[in-house]
Amino acid sequence: MDQTRKVGWYGLGSMGLFMALNLHKKLKSDGSALTYSNRTLSKGEVLSQAGALPKNGMTELGRECDDIFLMVSTDAVLKGLINELLQSDIDLKGKTIIDCSTTHPDTATEVSTLLQAAGAEFVASPVFGANTVAEAGRLLFAMAGSQSAIQRLEPLIVGVMGRKVVNMGENPKDSSLLKVTGNVLLVVFLEAIAETQVLAEKNGLGTSVMEEVIFENFGPVLGGYSRRMTTGSYAPKEGQAGFAVSNTIKDAKHALRIAQDLDVRMPALDIATNNMLSAKAYGGENLDGAALYGTLRSQSGLSFWSNESRQS
Ligand SMILES: NC(=O)c1ccc[n+]([C@@H]2O[C@H](COP(=O)([O-])OP(=O)(O)OC[C@H]3O[C@@H](n4cnc5c(N)ncnc54)[C@H](OP(=O)(O)O)[C@@H]3O)[C@@H](O)[C@H]2O)c1
Repeated sequence: MDQTRKVGWYGLGSMGLFMALNLHKKLKSDGSALTYSNRTLSKGEVLSQAGALPKNGMTELGRECDDIFLMVSTDAVLKGLINELLQSDIDLKGKTIIDCSTTHPDTATEVSTLLQAAGAEFVASPVFGANTVAEAGRLLFAMAGSQSAIQRLEPLIVGVMGRKVVNMGENPKDSSLLKVTGNVLLVVFLEAIAETQVLAEKNGLGTSVMEEVIFENFGPVLGGYSRRMTTGSYAPKEGQAGFAVSNTIKDAKHALRIAQDLDVRMPALDIATNNMLSAKAYGGENLDGAALYGTLRSQSGLSFWSNESRQS
C-alpha cells in the first residue's frame, strides 16, 4: 500500500457508510485515517468517533486527498460532484477518483474523459452485494481503468471492503456494463420470489415453508431476497431501506436502455421494473427494490403492506 497517498470517501448511504467504516479500519491499522464527506455530514458521526476526518463537501475532500472513492445514488449526482471538482481551483494531476456507484456505462466514459483531460485518473468500480455484504466486507468489485491504479488500490479493497476484484481492463465503461447487466438477475429474482411468495400465501402453504425451500434449494442470496419480503423490510417500519427502490429502478432502466439500443427484449425485467414503479407510486420513498412484492400483493387481493412492514 502506498502510505503517502491520502485516501478520501464521499457518500455515506446504505452501502457507503459500511464500506467507509471498513476502509477506515484498514487505514487505521496502517497508522493512517480515512478522510470523508457526505451531503448529510452528520451520517458520518460513527466514522468521526472512530478517528476518521470529516470534510465539508467534495471540494474540501478533493483538495485534501489523492485517492477518492465515491458511493452515491445516481449518475446525475456523480456528474455533479465530478464537475464540482473540475470547476474548483484544485490541481487534479495525480489524483485518482474511484466510483463505486452503479452508473450507465456512458456516464463512466463521460466522467473518465473529463477527469483524464484534467490530469486525473478514473477507475469505475461498481460493486455486487447488498448492504449486509458491504457491512461484512465481502463485496465483489468490478474494476476498470488505469491498471497501475487498480493494482495500487487492491490492498484497500480485497479483505477490507470486498472479497474479490474482477478486473475488467482499461476501459471504465466495461465494469459499469458488467454491473448493470448483472443487476438484471437481482431484479428478475426479486420478481420471481415475490410472485412465488404471494402464491404461497394465497394457496395456504404460507411464506415460512416456502422461504425454507428457497434457502435450502437456491441458497442464501435468494433466501435473503425472500427475507426482504417476509420480514417486511421491503417497506421498513424504521430505518432506511437496504436498496432504495429509486436506485433499483435506476439500475433496471439503465439495463433496459442498453437492451433497447441492441434490440434485445427483456420482458421479465420490464414487468419487474413496472411493478417497482407502481410500488413507488403507491408507497412513496423509503421502500426497498423488493417492494415489487407489495405491488404483487395488491394485484392479488392482499394489502400492499404486510403485518411486518410499515402500514402506510
Ligand atoms: N444498496 C444496495 O444494495 C446496493 C448494492 C450495490 C450497488 N448499489 C448502488 O450503489 C450506489 C449507492 O447505493 P446506496 O444504497 O448506498 O444509496 P443511498 O443509500 O441512496 O445513498 C446515496 C448516497 O448518495 C448521496 N446523495 C444523494 N443525492 C445527493 C445529492 N444530490 N448530492 C450529493 N449527494 C447525494 C446520499 O447523501 P445523503 O446521505 O445526504 O442522503 C448518500 O450518501 C447506488 O448507485 C446503488 O445503485 C446499491
